Amino acid sequence: GPPSQLEILGNRYQTDEITNITPSILSKLPLRLHSRPKHPLHTLRTLIEAHFPTFSHHSSLSPLVSPYKNFDELSFPKDHPGRAVTDSYYVNKDLMLRTHTSAHEVEVFRRGDDKWLLTADVYRRDEIDGSHYPVFHQMEGARIFPATPNGMREVEEDNAWLRSQLAQTNIVIEDVPHVAPTNPAQPTHDPAHSALVAENLKLSLNGMLLALFGGSSPLRVRWIEAYFPFTSPSFEVEVFYRGKWLEILGSGVVRQATLDTANVPNKIGWAFGLGLERIAMILYSIPDIRLFWSEDERFLSQFKENKISTFKPYSKYPACSKDVSFWLPQGSSLHDNDFCDLVRDVAGDIVEDVKKIDAFVHPKTNRSSACYRINYRSMDRSLSNEEVNEIQGQVVSRLREQFGVEIR
Ligand code: PHE
Repeated sequence: GPPSQLEILGNRYQTDEITNITPSILSKLPLRLHSRPKHPLHTLRTLIEAHFPTFSHHSSLSPLVSPYKNFDELSFPKDHPGRAVTDSYYVNKDLMLRTHTSAHEVEVFRRGDDKWLLTADVYRRDEIDGSHYPVFHQMEGARIFPATPNGMREVEEDNAWLRSQLAQTNIVIEDVPHVAPTNPAQPTHDPAHSALVAENLKLSLNGMLLALFGGSSPLRVRWIEAYFPFTSPSFEVEVFYRGKWLEILGSGVVRQATLDTANVPNKIGWAFGLGLERIAMILYSIPDIRLFWSEDERFLSQFKENKISTFKPYSKYPACSKDVSFWLPQGSSLHDNDFCDLVRDVAGDIVEDVKKIDAFVHPKTNRSSACYRINYRSMDRSLSNEEVNEIQGQVVSRLREQFGVEIR
């Protein structure tokens, strides 16, 4: 079974029956890619920070948070799927790895900070492929104003200034109404105030997107109505880049409950959250999300401080795929994320992707069977067949021990 205590960032924590953090995940916590000079994630963060010169920056908050802070404080319902142990990493029932940077909204607002950016590593259990990794980086940004006539005048003035900044630029925006019956202002907000704040959000982010993605041809940005438990109205933003619409961020007018909890009940404002890897992969042409974790000089030496450049892929080492088929014990099932975490824990970053290629339930015995194909490839070296067989052997024994499977 799992150890009764885990040491995480220098402290010891009691485990319990829901503990599901693996050693491979724990090894990522101290790495802080977003704070390594020249690293693409650091550069991207720096460029976004440069676009908001009057905002404060936070980047050293602990990834360990209570489920209360990650979910409840942000008005997530009790039955939200993100809370499930199959979707999130738990140290124990009272402590988890943050799944998003929004987990820190309340504490930063509580400090009295009313314009801020926050960058951090976040953790979500997921399947394995070239664009999904269980650790990634998000940047949160927020700005709140006094919910008073003076505060609203400040928003109006800022909006006029931001509009003038965007006026001569090469940007084409598809917009949706700031507030709408399908994307309403909150009951405690004057809809006119909510609309001014949503407009401030849009103008602020349009300028930032232009700074990141703008070029010789017009930048197309589209705003879409969205839903988040902790904002209303809410929006997603997409950018048309190299022939495709790309989802860039989630945002909205901060829920009053969040601001009340943070002890700033007479403010109104906006927040956004974006995934740094997705954007960096596009801007740098980085083809595989595992590359961000590479210590290979052929990767790291390509980048300069504070400047986005096109990644030049070096030759890929050969891949090697192995299948494993098994019967589960009668009446039991295995979540794909549990399979992927087991594989990631045994094999680390040499797993390129995992696909379920077959699954069925035996009509007579009612036992289920599954077959997964694991693709192994190192970013940094050539793998020998013996080495891969050895790792595959460990995957198989762990499957037997942990899930009592019978190999077919
Ligand atoms: N936290 C949200 C996510 O991870 C993004 C978000 C941040 C949405 C702030 C609205 C406001 O998807």
